[in-house]
Amino acid sequence: MTATQVDRKLVAELTEKEEKRLEDSTPKSFELYQRAIKHMPMGVASTYHARDPYPVYFTHGKGPHIWTVDGQEIIDFHNGYGCMVQGHAHPVIVEAIQKRAPLGTQFGLPTEDAIIMAEHLSGAFKLPQWRFVNSGSEATMDAIRVARGFTGREPIVKMFGSYHGHHDYVMVSIGVKDFGAIGPRDDYKQFSYGAGIPQSSIDLTVPVPFNDLENTTKRIERMVAEGTTPAALIMEPAMMNLGVVLPEPGFLEGIRELTRKHGIVLIFDEVKTGICTARGGSVERWGVVPDMVTLGKAVAGGTPCGAIGGTEEIMETVNDGTVFQVGTYSGNPLSMAAARASWEHVMTDDAYKHLNHLNDRLIAGCDAVCEKYDFPGYTVGISSKGCVNFASGRITDYESFIKYQDHELVALAWLYNFNRGIVIAPGREEEWTLSITHTDDDIDAYIAAFEDLVRDVSA
Ligand SMILES: Cc1ncc(COP(=O)(O)O)c(C=O)c1O
Repeated sequence: MTATQVDRKLVAELTEKEEKRLEDSTPKSFELYQRAIKHMPMGVASTYHARDPYPVYFTHGKGPHIWTVDGQEIIDFHNGYGCMVQGHAHPVIVEAIQKRAPLGTQFGLPTEDAIIMAEHLSGAFKLPQWRFVNSGSEATMDAIRVARGFTGREPIVKMFGSYHGHHDYVMVSIGVKDFGAIGPRDDYKQFSYGAGIPQSSIDLTVPVPFNDLENTTKRIERMVAEGTTPAALIMEPAMMNLGVVLPEPGFLEGIRELTRKHGIVLIFDEVKTGICTARGGSVERWGVVPDMVTLGKAVAGGTPCGAIGGTEEIMETVNDGTVFQVGTYSGNPLSMAAARASWEHVMTDDAYKHLNHLNDRLIAGCDAVCEKYDFPGYTVGISSKGCVNFASGRITDYESFIKYQDHELVALAWLYNFNRGIVIAPGREEEWTLSITHTDDDIDAYIAAFEDLVRDVSA
């Protein structure tokens, strides 16, 4: 079967049937939604929690499972957008939080656990200087400011389609659907992601194609020639917000060389890859060391935290007070205690071995299903992260993602999963995140739900 042979009428019918099944099983969520919408736009705390026609609300989680307000027990492959690689309510992290809470959770003054975490991160990411923040967005925002302060320049470069958080500098050239308007690959246009982003910010953020060193080089060398050399190039070393897109051989090395040649600060945004794909993230996995790293999500075991690492030279701008890198809750004792417990006792070598085993099993299982039904899909993954691309062509960047990814099937897959007791992050851009508490049985449940979908769509 090819993507064009997928029966669209059948997909629409299955989607309607599965949506009805979900609605029938979640009456309490619907009730909560009606209450929530009176005081919260879309009935949620963040637009990323929203779902059409209404979101499913949850009560608690333990290990690989979470429970809905309607009492459904769900195997969690969403894991809080990748924060919960440790699994929910891990006893070691719970104990660390319980020990810390009665001693005070916030002073706005320094404590030792932050020093210990900076020591751990320095070793793993091969960058000596660290600061802590409260989220991935704060990390990328502050890293870009440091890079601008260090270089004295304003423009920045990012990969087209990459998500780096919700601040103005980076809400540019993502989620763009109008493909004809994107421009040539060495001269991509800038697009605002929603309203409210100043044009001056949009103009300063220049997009280039992932996995395309030639056109990235052309664009950057043109900027240099025009006297608008970028302060920084910010990128995910493996793009996680288009499913999972791995770097082609030599791409990261080429980017490292290009940025070094022009004195551009290379920032690896490891908010999703850090901790989840290896303790030292992509730096450990691919051996290319950037000038700065940003972390968030899984770093503090499900408590709000982010981090910024940099070279001595770059972070001297913070050390000598040239750049202000600040925050009331930065390095707060509660997050630091959870981060330390996770780092020292939870995300062990054995934990990573287990994640790799589970991911290999899941990838092999989903690939076997695609092969069995001659279904237009394939899997990609590393360590705890992965996805099925519902695509007949290979996805290597944003253009191929838009061209090949079948968003109707992605939406249907989410419904099939939920109705069979599995949740993954919603949206065509998202990937699964495994946790160290998943078992082979959980993986087999995922593969079985996937086979249900593929069999029904192939009927
Ligand atoms: C790569 C990347 N960077 C930054 C962020 C922003 O993190 P946060 O939502 O914690 O602000 C995200 C969030 O999904 C992300 O995926």
